[in-house]
Amino acid sequence: MKVFKNIDQVKHFTSLIKSVGKTVGFVPTMGNLHQGHVSLVERAKKENNIVGVSIFVNPTQFGPSEDYNKYPRTIEADMEKLEKAGCDFVFVPEVDAIYKDGGNSFFVTEKTASTALCGKFRPGHFDGVLTVVAKLFNICHPNRAYFGMKDYQQLVLIRKMSEALNMGVEVVPCTLVRDDDGLAMSSRNSYLSTEDRKKALKINKALKAIKESFEKGNNETDNLKKIGLSVLVPDVSVQYLEILDANDLSSVENASQGCLVAVAGFCGSVRLIDNIIL
Ligand code: PAJ
Repeated sequence: MKVFKNIDQVKHFTSLIKSVGKTVGFVPTMGNLHQGHVSLVERAKKENNIVGVSIFVNPTQFGPSEDYNKYPRTIEADMEKLEKAGCDFVFVPEVDAIYKDGGNSFFVTEKTASTALCGKFRPGHFDGVLTVVAKLFNICHPNRAYFGMKDYQQLVLIRKMSEALNMGVEVVPCTLVRDDDGLAMSSRNSYLSTEDRKKALKINKALKAIKESFEKGNNETDNLKKIGLSVLVPDVSVQYLEILDANDLSSVENASQGCLVAVAGFCGSVRLIDNIIL
């Protein structure tokens, strides 16, 4: 497995691969890898000749009161997992290399779907995400890039960005991976106390209760949300529970098959997100 820190080196490597007709699959991450990340690498491996992963804790997507400094950095364990998963190259740039301009001047901004869900509570977050992913795409020029449905809004926005800005990168949605007890895997789960982790299980339970009721014929969004909230409260301090069109995150009058049910909330001081498709 090749490890690149330097932008020009990784650029050169991927352009060489593509010049001989091979495909590059790419998985952007912030490290602290778990099976959710690994599943993206495994999928990319099946569909491409060469697979690369970036590990970069992106400062521009963290708000001033968020966890940029304490975000778990576990590079050695990450490298081992990637090697095992058959990853061909890892790109681990420094902040100064990615943000040569200081990182406060140029941004990619989406103005519609980014205002829903997390966009309401994390101002500037998606500008930071889209900007860094645009940079990573411009550096690695992958044929395909793999994103988890765990961060559903992020996935929608990146797919829209690639299309709208003619980036030519196929954005591939990948299944959300859960722990055996149903909790969506997340690097932030490591912040949870044992007690808060138990509370966090209510999130998946609430989503399942909504889906069950929908499958029995209930399509009233307000009523479905009520069912979800009755499971979540008081263990989870809910930021939002929404039922939306899964393609563009617009509002829907009634829930229908294929709709997104998305939730965000705090267990203790840890903010968690999760979702399910009806
Ligand atoms: P990070 O949180 O490290 O996630 C990297 C990728 O792994 C994302 O596509 C995310 O959706 C996916 N992922 C995380 N947990 C998952 C799970 N339980 N099941 C399936 N996929 C999962 O998302 C980011 O980093 C950053 O915002 C990034 C896109 C790298 C830009 O900085």
